[in-house]
Amino acid sequence: MNNLLARKPVADIVASAEIPGRRVPRVLGPVSIAAMGVGAIIGAGIFVLTGTVAALNAGPAIVLSFVLAAIACAFVGLCYAELSAFLPVTGSTYTYTYATLGELAAWVIGWDLILEYAIGGAAVAVGWSGYFNSLLGMLGVALPPQWVAATGQAVVLADGTKATAIANLPAAAIVGLITVLLIGGTKESARLNNIMVAIKLTVVVSFIGLGAFYVNTANWRPFIPTNTGDFGSFGFSGILRGASIVFFAYIGFDAVSNCAQEAKRPQRDMPIGILGSLGLSTVLYILVAGVLTGLVPYAELNVPDPVAKGVRVMGHEWFSLFIELGALIGLTTVILVLLYGQSRIFATMAGDGLLPPVVGRLHPTLRTPWISQIMIGIVVAGVAAAVPLDVLDEMVGVGTLFAFILVCAAVIYLRTIEPYQHRPFRVPYVPWVPLLGILSCLGLMSGMTPETWLRLVVWLVVGLVVYFGYSRFHARLRAKR
Ligand code: ALA
Repeated sequence: MNNLLARKPVADIVASAEIPGRRVPRVLGPVSIAAMGVGAIIGAGIFVLTGTVAALNAGPAIVLSFVLAAIACAFVGLCYAELSAFLPVTGSTYTYTYATLGELAAWVIGWDLILEYAIGGAAVAVGWSGYFNSLLGMLGVALPPQWVAATGQAVVLADGTKATAIANLPAAAIVGLITVLLIGGTKESARLNNIMVAIKLTVVVSFIGLGAFYVNTANWRPFIPTNTGDFGSFGFSGILRGASIVFFAYIGFDAVSNCAQEAKRPQRDMPIGILGSLGLSTVLYILVAGVLTGLVPYAELNVPDPVAKGVRVMGHEWFSLFIELGALIGLTTVILVLLYGQSRIFATMAGDGLLPPVVGRLHPTLRTPWISQIMIGIVVAGVAAAVPLDVLDEMVGVGTLFAFILVCAAVIYLRTIEPYQHRPFRVPYVPWVPLLGILSCLGLMSGMTPETWLRLVVWLVVGLVVYFGYSRFHARLRAKR
């Protein structure tokens, strides 16, 4: 029992970053780090889910769903800022849990983070495929429908006959491409990421700026459509259900913490990166959601490319093309940061002995964890090809919220057991702010469907089987004792 609760001392965690052979170069400055955040945050949530949630759950009040989700993320973001400056090593939530709640809890959270990073990457790849397909359509090219939808989904062929989809090939292809890029090197990936993030921001800001002139305020009435009688279908419960779905749009600010070990000055740059990217995205989301529901009656927004639909209302063909292209690039950066984060978490877990050592091995010249990156690429491409977006989205949301709760708890716990350690950034009003973080995450989780909860439990049980079958016998911390 004691072994299961073994904690990794804070001093060991910090020192482990400096072990030769496990050390990765410190190449990232504050702009690259904040760009990584924005790169991971603004994606399928705003480009795809906004439409679905406005049409099915919240109507124009989706703006309030974004506000609710942002409040939860702000509390959690502060906690991430404290921990990533305090423990500037890779592994994110997994590492923080190892330092607080011990080995078993760390394993559970490492396993849970696969939902956020790998399955999140797959979800965004599916969103990417939707925009890719519609962009090709604008250029007059049509891919066979069986090859652009999840396995087993019903599709309609060009001649009007019905068929069953084989796999979502573009979704798998983009995952493959990004995997190759990430193996090529962190600095190169970060550089390309910065350019893509700049394009994404330009697209989002110009949508807001131009769209504002075409808003028809009648579309905002009623602001909160009357509940249909079902929980989550408009009315106040619709705003809550909407918040738990659009929460997906904020996921990624925490991914910044994975760069801590590759940051030049993590103590200063981690809080800037996390809170800066979260704040910027929040403002943009609220504006995009407001403009979009002002452009198109909310009931018509349940389409794979709602932002592009909003642009079509404005009647500028060139601008539609620009938005489609920008969304595509924007979604690419999200997949990039999520797959990067997943490989770093796996590498950290392998370093601790909880996963086989081969997973953490760095490439001799490229200095990237290439083996784990390839394995992740294959699995994520397979999931993206086979599973539809709505199933993936909620799984990612529930898994991430679970991790967020543990991060808030870790702040309180570490303040209690290591009160005198220097903290470059401190969450104000501990324990109240982390407690509010926990409560608001639970609030968002309460808006999720029972099937999603069940899937989370099944996933965690599988993780426990792996832990008791392999990891607990190989943990380095145990070997040291
Ligand atoms: N926040 C990311 C997105 O919206 C995961 O795509």
